[in-house]
Amino acid sequence: MHVKMVVGRYAPDRKLDGELGAPYPPPYADKPRKTYQTFEIDLHDEAMVLDGLIHIREHVDDSLVVRCSCRCAICGSCAMWVNGHAKLACTTKMKDVIENGTVRVEAPPAMMPIRDLVWDMGPFMEKMRSVKPWLEGKPVSPDEEYRVPNEAMDELVQEVSCISCGACLMDCESYAVNEKFLGPHALARAYRYANDPRDSMQQERLKEYSDPNGVWDCTHCYECVHVCPKGVAPLEQILKIRQMSVAAGYTNNAGTRHALAFAESVRDSGRLNELTLMPKSLGLFNIKAQLQSLPSAFNLLRAGKLPPIIHHKIPGVTRVKAIFKKVGGPLT
Ligand code: SF4
Ligand code: SF4
Ligand code: FES
Repeated sequence: MHVKMVVGRYAPDRKLDGELGAPYPPPYADKPRKTYQTFEIDLHDEAMVLDGLIHIREHVDDSLVVRCSCRCAICGSCAMWVNGHAKLACTTKMKDVIENGTVRVEAPPAMMPIRDLVWDMGPFMEKMRSVKPWLEGKPVSPDEEYRVPNEAMDELVQEVSCISCGACLMDCESYAVNEKFLGPHALARAYRYANDPRDSMQQERLKEYSDPNGVWDCTHCYECVHVCPKGVAPLEQILKIRQMSVAAGYTNNAGTRHALAFAESVRDSGRLNELTLMPKSLGLFNIKAQLQSLPSAFNLLRAGKLPPIIHHKIPGVTRVKAIFKKVGGPLT
């Protein structure tokens, strides 16, 4: 197989040959621009993207910097952008991503590049650390061991599969616009500890994960589910933490109010009342936040996008109410 590999290269201390890439659009506009260098190589038909990069490093240009170790989706070190999406280079077959004979690889713009395809894992690890990814064991007497039922561990197998590759964070929509967002990997790990029967800090954890920049800041874009090479499905774990937090009574936050206001509106009228959604989400008595939202409301008014003042029910709304009743839960 003949492949043209377009490789994004970044070397802050020296100039590289190649074409300087255009600046990234917002929200990545402040990220360093890369030099794109094209390598034409021949590989066997089942070659992975990482095989191509190693071939370049070994036989064409030994200055190419790429991070890899296991070559079998265990170490998590080779995550990068392949044709603009996060992938593990060692498990992505070249023939599956080649387009018109070309494959483009680069460090993702959401992360700070260090050199060529290696990006700074510091912020990623810091987020992981901030959710306290360790057990604070429940006290047991010295001659007793803490036995965990198999079923409880089955619940956590999916989250334990994470190899800390960073693919989910590099394509996360919420992280792109808010660097403080805890991120899919850290929140998936957070669920693993919050739901472990041996942990004594469940309440503190749920409160903390419900705070701003936590579970309620996820926008459900599903990217983390699509790109995760280990099937961790971080969004699913985020939704489980939300449910656990609401059940534990941590509802005094914009995220829970938003979800409840949304569901109440659908239950009562069959459609979303966008006029009341924002004030209810902010908290009706949160005067400061209400005043801060006024400029956005005026912008909507000016652009002719303010929702209708009178909100009408759909015909047959009683059927919607019946669905809520059947499903059960706090809004029945
Ligand atoms: S679903 Fe949420 S956590 Fe996952 S990538 Fe999208 S915004 Fe990020
Ligand atoms: S959740 Fe998946 S994509 Fe995210 S760091 Fe873990 S293994 Fe990688
Ligand atoms: S080289 Fe280890 S995960 Fe790709």
